Amino acid sequence: MNSAEEHKPANLLTILREDGVAFLLLNHPPVNASSAALRAALYEGLQESAHDSSIIAVVIMGQGQNFMAGADIREFDGPLLDPQMPAIIQLIENLNKPVIAAIHGAALGAGFELALACDARMATPHASIGLPEVSLGVIPGAGGTQRLPRLIGTAKALDLIGNAKRVKGSEAVDLGMIDRLCTTELKTEAKNFALECAKSTGKKRLRDRDHQQVSSSEVNTIVEKLRKKSEHAPAVTAAVESIILSQSLPFDEGLSQERATFQKLRCGYDASARRHLFFAEREATRIPGIESIQPLQITQTCVIGGGTMGAGIAVCLLDAGFPVTLIERDEVSLDQGSARIRAIYERNLASGRQTAKKVEENLGHLSTTCHFDEVRQADLVIEAVFEDFDVKTTLMRELDHKVKPSAILASNTSYLDLNRLASVTSRPQNVIGLHFFAPAHIMKLLEIVRTQDTSLSTLATAMDIARKIRKTPVVARVCEGFIGNRIYSAYRKQCEFMLEEGALPFEVDAALTDFGFAMGPFAVADLSGLDIAWRTRQRQAATRDPQERYSDILDRLCEAGRVGLKAGKGWYTYPDGTRRGVADPWVKDVIEDASRRKGFERRSIPADEIVNRALISIINEAALLLSEGIAERASDVDLVMVTGYGFPTHIGGPLFWAQHEPEDKLTYWTEILAQSIGHRFKKADLKWLHPGL
Ligand code: COA
Repeated sequence: MNSAEEHKPANLLTILREDGVAFLLLNHPPVNASSAALRAALYEGLQESAHDSSIIAVVIMGQGQNFMAGADIREFDGPLLDPQMPAIIQLIENLNKPVIAAIHGAALGAGFELALACDARMATPHASIGLPEVSLGVIPGAGGTQRLPRLIGTAKALDLIGNAKRVKGSEAVDLGMIDRLCTTELKTEAKNFALECAKSTGKKRLRDRDHQQVSSSEVNTIVEKLRKKSEHAPAVTAAVESIILSQSLPFDEGLSQERATFQKLRCGYDASARRHLFFAEREATRIPGIESIQPLQITQTCVIGGGTMGAGIAVCLLDAGFPVTLIERDEVSLDQGSARIRAIYERNLASGRQTAKKVEENLGHLSTTCHFDEVRQADLVIEAVFEDFDVKTTLMRELDHKVKPSAILASNTSYLDLNRLASVTSRPQNVIGLHFFAPAHIMKLLEIVRTQDTSLSTLATAMDIARKIRKTPVVARVCEGFIGNRIYSAYRKQCEFMLEEGALPFEVDAALTDFGFAMGPFAVADLSGLDIAWRTRQRQAATRDPQERYSDILDRLCEAGRVGLKAGKGWYTYPDGTRRGVADPWVKDVIEDASRRKGFERRSIPADEIVNRALISIINEAALLLSEGIAERASDVDLVMVTGYGFPTHIGGPLFWAQHEPEDKLTYWTEILAQSIGHRFKKADLKWLHPGL
């Protein structure tokens, strides 16, 4: 073997010459994102390889875990520096020798566009490949929408790009995105492949390829599906347009239109909101103090309570490979609990989300029992029993007596005082809140609630579990409702006040869904059941300040058995088992009666007022949470609201929105909020909205 190695400045690129092949090894940890400096190094490396007569083919490979995870999106806020990716791609296409992409790990966005510019592509079976730019509010900007349809056909390209799909190397080969699967050692196989290309096929540029014949009905079906989901996603619409245009426009014209659209979207609000959330998700995992703490090894887990939440939590653990013991108080409840778990897996199987083999494997790790002593083996116990302080306290005491000293006791409470709950045990340092959101096996958010006594080791272990069960963790401290439910409660209160003043549930819901919420607050309340909120209100009744403004409409509904969708009626009525509520004159009467009793002259409330009052209630409460130290940072609040409460992703979260609104507007609506709440209104200092404080 004949080999030589050369390092480019800052070690961003290593050039390895072996048997006439130049390996350009990208080295920009942690994910080889294509920064300006990496692009410059790659450009230089390609030029050098072009001029080196001893080289007959070039292989581009990534060092570390990935090929290239995409453009360095940290650079998207300012002007992009040269050389930009299209210039590198042009260089590859015009290079006088074949260039091969040898992919392992992520080849996403600009990473896969780089590969598409090459003359051939090889990937390992577990590589992650795709053009997921629309999830960051942009379209591929370096030829992805023009080259991919030429490679795999318009319909498949629309599906992959429009749905931001990432596929494994093996699937990418089946789809035609990759020419060859590497089954042994990537570098050796890539070298052989490159030499083969140099000797036989030579240059094979996608720009020179004609479009494949496409069935227009197949394309229309996928375009139609994408249009439906693109209401608040301009990048999806733009990607569809760009791909469709690739069929009729000359290649270079298609490229320049794609680039112009990419640049426009990159600088827009939508893309910056999505970037904010991307980084918020990663930032939320940085908890001061736990960086060097080794998480405990969790082998056996136990879930107490097989209701909707318990079953969903058990599935999360099983899916991550943890053995789970489900404990219930009696055989009937136990049967119901395991039936719930099985039903989730049956749905996964039917929808194709999991294979029969995987379902069988996961269920094989489930054991069920009514014998409480089984908790003795557990390293982690998650209780998901009835949301009642006394019930949970009794359970915590019992657990404390039975589990081993090192075991972590987690509660799925969504409101209760975890400091007090932990204090009834002899190990408050091992107690933590793991607040899952329904349906627990689907919703990404996991609020991790640290009490005043939770140890860093328990916290680090909880974060590790969150990562293993693929949740988005956000750490909160203890207060009624933690981050999410406390904010949501303020928001819901304000929406109920607007009913007393003149709005109707469907008007509030419509204004907020038009703004972008997945659902309005009254439709959400019906879906999740009004009885939980009712119980909380009853619990708080004794200590409620009589002077505090309080809307009792929800109590009236619950007293009449209107506890939501499960009862066929709540804020709306659901005739004949439908899930789409219709306005009910009975509810309107109750609301109007409330207005009369409170002395409100009803008025029509414009959609703009509904939205601004709803948002300012969220923002004020969030700023209070930040000032109290319940939430660590503003971006954590955004993450909670977007991933757990249907706050529109394209807005970037309530605080990101507030940071982009004029201060006098926020002040104005805060005044309106203050007037509407009156006595006991607590005004937050808006300085808390700004990161870095
Ligand atoms: N640009 C800039 N930074 C990026 C990045 C990108 N495209 N992709 C990842 N990073 C950073 C993350 O912010 C994180 O930084 P931090 O350690 O300072 O928090 C680091 O790389 C590791 O990323 P993380 O997601 O925590 O690692 P992972 O191993 O779980 O996942 C990826 C790796 C590549 C799968 C994932 O980061 C990803 O999906 N990236 C985005 C891919 C994409 O959408 N590309 C198209 C861009 S337009």
